Amino acid sequence: MQLPLESLCKTLIDIVKDTGTFIRSERIRFDENAIEYKRARDLVSYVDRQAEMMIVEKLKNLLPEAGFLTEEKTINREGAVKWIIDPLDGTTNYLTAYPVYATTVALATPNEVLIGVTYDIVEDKCYYAWKGGGAFCDNTPLKVKPNAVLANSTVIVGFPYDLGSRASSYFELIHFLYENTLGIRATGSAAIDLAWVAAGKIDSYVEFNIQPWDIAAGYLLVKEAGGFVSDFSGTENTYTPEIVACGNVYPEMFQVCSKYLRIP
Ligand code: IPD
Ligand code: CA
Repeated sequence: MQLPLESLCKTLIDIVKDTGTFIRSERIRFDENAIEYKRARDLVSYVDRQAEMMIVEKLKNLLPEAGFLTEEKTINREGAVKWIIDPLDGTTNYLTAYPVYATTVALATPNEVLIGVTYDIVEDKCYYAWKGGGAFCDNTPLKVKPNAVLANSTVIVGFPYDLGSRASSYFELIHFLYENTLGIRATGSAAIDLAWVAAGKIDSYVEFNIQPWDIAAGYLLVKEAGGFVSDFSGTENTYTPEIVACGNVYPEMFQVCSKYLRIP
C-alpha cells in the first residue's frame, strides 16, 4: 500500500510540536526530586513517559496497521511499518537544565525510514523529511555541508551511556579527530546531532551503542539533505547501534571511524 507520506509528515509535525510544547512548559516547574534512574547515569522522569503517551494516543488511530517501537515502552503493538518514538531525546540535558533536547519520531519499514520529524524544543525549530521529498527546517530546505576534507571539518562525537569494549579505541579516535579536524563538539542529543548534520551546521556525527529511536528520524533527515549515513562497516541500516553521518566529508570520516571502531 502506498502511504501518503507528505500529508502524514505534516500531521506528525503538529503532534511532535504539541508534545515539545508540553515538555518545554514542564521544564519551568520541574522539580529535581522527580528524577528517576533506569540504571547508573541513565535518567528518566514522568515528563518522558507522559510525553510518549501523548504521542502514542494521537498516532494509534492515524495508521491502525502500524506498530510501535518506543523508548519508554508505553505501548505494545507490532506491525511491519512502525512508529519509532523518542519523546525526549537529551533527557539528561533536560533534567539537568542543559538546553539541548528534542522530541523525535519516525515512521519506518524494516529496511528504511519513510518519515522523520525532530523538534528542537529549546530553539523552537522543527526538522522534517519524508522519503523522496527532501528535508526541511520550518519550510526551508536542508543541505549538508559540501566540504569534503576532514582537516577542514567539525565533528560531533556522541557519548553513549555505555562505551563497552570500545572505550579505549573511541578515545583514540577522539584524540585523532582532535588533532586532525577544526574541532570536536558534543550536544547530548543524537536527534539534534543528526538534524544539525542535515542542516549543514556540522560536517559529521559519530556514535555507537545507541537505539533506533535516537537516530531513526535523523537518519532520513541526513539522507534527504544529500548526506551519507552508515554503520562502521559501511552498511546502511536504520536499526544499527553504530552510526557515522556526514555531509561530503563522509568518505574520509568513514575511513577513520572504521579504522578505529570496526570490530572485524
Ligand atoms: C541519549 C542521547 C545522547 C546519546 C545517548 C542517547 P536519551 O538519548 O541521544 O546524545 O549520547 O546514546 O541514549 O537517553 O537522552 O533519550
Ligand atoms: Ca534518546
